[in-house]
Amino acid sequence: MLSKSELNFRKMKYRSQKVAYLFFALSMALLVLQIIYGFIMGFAHMGFDVLHEIIPFNAATATHKNLLIVWLLSGFMGAAYYIIPEEAEQELASVKLAKIQFWSLALVAVASVIGFHFNWWEGRKFLEIPRPLDYLVVINVLLFLGIVLKTLYSGKKRTTTAMVLVMGLVFAALLYLPGMIWFDNQTIDSFFRWWVVHLWVEGVWELIMGGILSFLLIKLTGVDREVIEKWLYVIVGLTFLSGILGTGHHFYFIGTPKYWLMIGGIFSALEPLAFLGMALFAMAMYRKGEKRHPNKIAITWTLGTAIVSFVGAGLLGIAHTLPSVNMWTHGTFITAMHGHLAFWGAYGMLIFALISYVLPQLTGRKLYNTALSTYAFWLSNIGMVGMTVALGAAGMTQVYLERKVGMDFMDAQIAMEPHFMILIACATMFFTGVIMFIVNFVKYGKPTDQALVKN
Ligand code: HEM
Ligand code: HEM
Ligand SMILES: [Fe+2]
Repeated sequence: MLSKSELNFRKMKYRSQKVAYLFFALSMALLVLQIIYGFIMGFAHMGFDVLHEIIPFNAATATHKNLLIVWLLSGFMGAAYYIIPEEAEQELASVKLAKIQFWSLALVAVASVIGFHFNWWEGRKFLEIPRPLDYLVVINVLLFLGIVLKTLYSGKKRTTTAMVLVMGLVFAALLYLPGMIWFDNQTIDSFFRWWVVHLWVEGVWELIMGGILSFLLIKLTGVDREVIEKWLYVIVGLTFLSGILGTGHHFYFIGTPKYWLMIGGIFSALEPLAFLGMALFAMAMYRKGEKRHPNKIAITWTLGTAIVSFVGAGLLGIAHTLPSVNMWTHGTFITAMHGHLAFWGAYGMLIFALISYVLPQLTGRKLYNTALSTYAFWLSNIGMVGMTVALGAAGMTQVYLERKVGMDFMDAQIAMEPHFMILIACATMFFTGVIMFIVNFVKYGKPTDQALVKN
């Protein structure tokens, strides 16, 4: 039962929004599992590959990266189930189907993790899940999109925020397909793998990010929807202008024609503009806003995601995107340095921001602005910046020893071991922050109809 003061704080508008909670909970559980596999690899790089017989490195790395994708997708799906009813002013088309979709998503996640440990995988980075499970993903995503689109199109309103979010989700689903075509030629296979991996994170996922950021800023700053949504058009424009041909920065050295060096170099160097746009947008809306919303920690995560994504994706992306740099850094820990801060800043923190905003609404409890939630923000972010620095140092060592000096691959790996001690120390700090966030999550308890706004 909610207390009297909590009852005065009823914010959830539609009963069916509660289903988002399941997706957020799954998201957090899979994140913890992803991090555990990160530690296994961190220790292996430090020279302690003790679990090798049970969890070989290839299984650990595939699990780490695929769980990352699934916890983010689960977060995005939760976001859509929460945001679309509110924007469209309509209950979700079917909560029952949404729950079926939830369980089938959880099933794919569990089946692929188990599969990786029994050598059931495809061996293409980020797209390792075996073909039969791909079909299950397709069915799952079709069901998800069906529910979301039906809700949106039977609702009273189709706001720009909702349209951009849904457009991102639909395109993300379509772009999964090029990764499912079979090619014997490795260059062509690689070429289309990037249609998925690159056009997701540097294309359509940015639309999802723009939509969610816009929703959060409308709710948290009190600035007019019209003003906030105008920015969205600019961000969508910048994303497409740079991100599509920017795919070329993955085609430099994989056997594709030489003109990609120029196209990829020029257009990918423009990509940080979209992230800069998002950072400026969020800051400007915050400054313009009334600053009266009580949920300060949700605002902190929202501004955090706009800023850290610019650093991790924009700045650390441009740092190795020119062909003259990339020819040295390609596929080293410089890539991993950028991969961690970009994924965390843009998409990880975005989901943390949304969860921080949504949980009080769904449960009617005001556990924001607690010491726990503040420490969660700072420890996780300082830890992740430390991890990024450690990976960057490892990467520079690797480029120098392996590619300039010509040291053998494995000898260079041994020379890098001390950097992984630092990585583990910083990752421990990061993990502590994440656990604090999850403890707060659990403390909120389950969503309840009592939190519904009185009609
Ligand atoms: C949120 C957005 C982004 C995320 C999540 C992200 C993540 C990643 C990841 C995980 C990889 C490794 C991919 C693989 O090897 O399969 C990668 C590679 C790369 N990223 Fe990003 N990235 C983002 C934005 C950017 C931007 C804006 C730029 C350029 C300005 C950029 C430049 C690069 C380059 C050049 C590589 C290739 C590295 C190599 O040759 O090994 N990224 N990114
Ligand atoms: C906190 C504990 C974590 C540790 C110790 C850790 C460690 C590692 C290590 C050692 C690798 C390299 C694997 C290899 O050599 O193939 C890796 C890869 C990767 N991790 Fe993590 N990780 C952690 C958390 C995370 C989180 C939270 C994210 C995303 C938000 C993430 C995203 C990635 C990505 C995208 C790659 C692939 C990088 C590349 O393309 O080179 N990791 N991780
Ligand atoms: Fe890319």
